[in-house]
Amino acid sequence: MGRYAELHRRSLEDPEGFWAAQAARIDWTRPWDQVLDLSEAPATRWFRGGQLNTCWNALDRHVAAGRGAQVALIYDSPMTGQVHSYSYAELTDYVARFAGALAAEGVGKGDRVIIYMPMVPEAAVAMLACARLGAVHSVVFGGFAANELATRIDDCQPKVIVAASCGLEPGRVVAYKPLLDAAIAMAVHKPARCIVLQRPQHAAELGERDVTWAHAIAGAPRADCVPVEATDPLYILYTSGTTGQPKGIVRDNGGHAVALAWSMEGLYGVKPGEVFWAASDVGWVVGHSYIVYAPLICGVTSVLYEGKPVGTPDPGAFWRVIQQHRVAALFTAPTAFRAIRQQDPKGEYIGKYDLSHFRTLFLAGERCDPDTLAWAEAQLKVPVVDHWWQTETGWCIAGNWQGVEPMPVKPGSPTVPGPGWDLRVLDPEGHEVPRGQIGALVAKLPLPPGTFPGLWNGRERYERAYFAHFPGYYETGDAGMLDQDGYVFVMARTDDIINVAGHRLSTGAMEEVLASHPDVAECAVLGAADALKGQVPLGFVVLKKGVNRPHPEIVKELVALVRDRIGPVAAFKSACVVARLPKTRSGKILRATMRKLADAEPFKTPATIDDPAILEEIKGALQGIGYAKG
Ligand code: COA
Ligand code: AMP
Repeated sequence: MGRYAELHRRSLEDPEGFWAAQAARIDWTRPWDQVLDLSEAPATRWFRGGQLNTCWNALDRHVAAGRGAQVALIYDSPMTGQVHSYSYAELTDYVARFAGALAAEGVGKGDRVIIYMPMVPEAAVAMLACARLGAVHSVVFGGFAANELATRIDDCQPKVIVAASCGLEPGRVVAYKPLLDAAIAMAVHKPARCIVLQRPQHAAELGERDVTWAHAIAGAPRADCVPVEATDPLYILYTSGTTGQPKGIVRDNGGHAVALAWSMEGLYGVKPGEVFWAASDVGWVVGHSYIVYAPLICGVTSVLYEGKPVGTPDPGAFWRVIQQHRVAALFTAPTAFRAIRQQDPKGEYIGKYDLSHFRTLFLAGERCDPDTLAWAEAQLKVPVVDHWWQTETGWCIAGNWQGVEPMPVKPGSPTVPGPGWDLRVLDPEGHEVPRGQIGALVAKLPLPPGTFPGLWNGRERYERAYFAHFPGYYETGDAGMLDQDGYVFVMARTDDIINVAGHRLSTGAMEEVLASHPDVAECAVLGAADALKGQVPLGFVVLKKGVNRPHPEIVKELVALVRDRIGPVAAFKSACVVARLPKTRSGKILRATMRKLADAEPFKTPATIDDPAILEEIKGALQGIGYAKG
């Protein structure tokens, strides 16, 4: 038996022994009473009774161990022309001071703090400061609109919101404060205080509730780490569900720290003192786990990059960062590589940089198309590792475990399940399907540490959305298969979530917005194949009787409405007006059939649309906005 197979077998046969051994990587202020606690099933609780502080494990303990001078965080921002490094000692001090500032505002154990910030080091500082106090952070991605922020404010009811005056997108400065003010005005819950980091690119106007970051931190006493229960929440991260109400994924402290500590070496093969770069955003789970927590818990140097992979303005931006900071491993979404390939198809810029320290490229967040994989392998000449995970899981479900036993890559597959993941493929009735057949990808309970023990304010939704359909299993929401070698293939979502440039979005939420337009009678939003972003949303609307305004005018309003309510990150740019939508006899819109129409492949004739007039109309509408090949 190979090393991977042996490790995987042990993790399933003796989860308590396996994870208790890994927990030695973490400093505990009190040992646990129970490794695996199933009393809250279907939730899996890890290390019940144990106490720790995640910030201590990420920062202070490295300083205490004499490694304070090592670089913890490198802020590299082509958007501002800045590169700044923080040693473990400096970052610990900065975090302790900001934690003191939060404590002075009354933030303590269990209180929620929303962080609405772009890719600046202070975003990581604010997260770690919350962890230090035992407070629960909820980071909201900067590309979301005020309405989305308001929903999150009302759901988690933060005592304090930490924001920046602006974010920087190519060619525009995004003023955050007006969005924040609008969100607070919309929300029923009002935070007591907003702490605003003033950036030189755009200063925010402050109101009575606001104080600047500089003012808050000036003279603040350094706060110590507060021990919390292993099962206490570390953070809430909202992600798209099937409606406009996002799901507040809860992460605990103990299981999370243990799983991430193992993964840094076991999956990424990265050791203390090496440099790891997750080119994502702190607003996504990848940013939480692999820009902030995992590298720091492991004493690795993490890169926090503010910019795009290309055109910032250097088409070789990624290679410059890898060379300059001696990055050992990069983690990003395939869409970033599609963007790079579009600008530099022959990889001419890659050759200009010294990438001799670079060992592995990790891709996740969306299906990795074999073309992008082959291109990246050919250009970089290092292993390119696809791995599959979700906001819910906090870390990888299936990957190619570089620190255990690198395995041959099969294009289209994120390789094999990780420790603690007992993956199965089920048919709709809950029977396992034979190897090679597609079905619902599920994991037999218990789930490994690091995975979500619940949804904030959402116990009923948690059970209904993830565990009700297949009792005894976690339903991932992805469809796929296992092949004869046990490799996993993730093919598609089973719900109406789409993946746009590695960003998870709900078409249901977009439909709710379109339906609120006064001229719209009914609508459907689908993910259409896109060469750069993987998928882009595409709207179809039927107008109310008697509406005879020009269609382009209405479409323009619909596009603006989605941008205004959900945010630019929705990338909703196209909609078409149609006379009817295809429906079943009982009146359900045939979204799956329409989705097939929107695929970039030449149209397959969909047998389920039996009205040729509807078929022709939708084909025509798709062609009209550039989606039809056939
Ligand atoms: N704040 C404000 N606006 C933001 C934003 C933020 N933090 N992030 C994105 N946006 C805006 C963009 O400016 C864009 O606006 P536009 O419609 O005015 O052009 C819109 O949201 C859509 O963003 P995106 O889909 O990211 O498109 P893009 O053209 O800006 O960039 C890629 C495309 C592929 C280069 C970029 O998405 C990328 O690098 N993705 C890979 C990394 C990644 O983020 N992975 C996530 C999980 S690992
Ligand atoms: P998120 O919660 O934003 O991380 O998105 C999770 C979803 O992204 C998964 O449920 C999958 O649909 C998709 N996804 C993530 N990684 C992969 C991958 N390596 N291969 C295929 N799909 C992926």
